[in-house]
Amino acid sequence: MKVSALIAFAVSASAATIQSRQALNLGIGKFHADCIPHSTYCSYDFTVTSDPVLPESHCNAFIQGPDQLPSISEGSCRDNAAYTWSVTDKEDGGLDFAIWYPFNSRSNITYCHSIPASQINTENNGTVQTEHYKGPVNFTAAVFDCPSA
Ligand SMILES: *[C@@H]1O[C@H](CO)[C@@H](O)[C@H](O)[C@H]1NC(C)=O
Ligand SMILES: *[C@@H]1O[C@H](CO)[C@@H](O)[C@H](O)[C@H]1NC(C)=O
Ligand SMILES: *[C@@H]1O[C@H](CO)[C@@H](O)[C@H](O)[C@H]1NC(C)=O
Repeated sequence: MKVSALIAFAVSASAATIQSRQALNLGIGKFHADCIPHSTYCSYDFTVTSDPVLPESHCNAFIQGPDQLPSISEGSCRDNAAYTWSVTDKEDGGLDFAIWYPFNSRSNITYCHSIPASQINTENNGTVQTEHYKGPVNFTAAVFDCPSA
């Protein structure tokens, strides 16, 4: 009796841990954001996964800059239509990254990550200066890192 009660407790506790990990954080990987010298375009490229054991989804955008990493209001992920993401160019030179998916019919669940200006480099290519993301390629986007959370 005691042993089965203990097992039942352990199972429900680990299920709760997995659920809360999926609900509160997303793993962002291979994050690249670059403006292309002598082009008017910039690109964003990254992967997203809700759990390290699950396959990652791939997200990217190739959009008009020029030279400075621009805001994007609704980016997409080519192999997972549930995700939508955004980048907001901040006045201090940093970027706010957010990604969300439908939580139920009335709301989305949103995960955020703030990129400080110190992680954005400006590189000189002759007469052109282009912005490039130089922060960690892997990071966590979290519900509690969203400004409104
Ligand atoms: C959820 O996100 C989608 C895609 O960005 C958007 O069209 C929709 O309005 C959002 N829904 C809510 C309730 O915010
Ligand atoms: C631009 O400059 C960076 C270093 O500042 C260099 O690594 C890169 O190859 C240059 N790219 C082009 C297209 O000139
Ligand atoms: C980023 O995550 C991937 C996949 O988990 C891993 O292969 C890679 O080594 C990580 N890179 C860094 C710089 O931590």
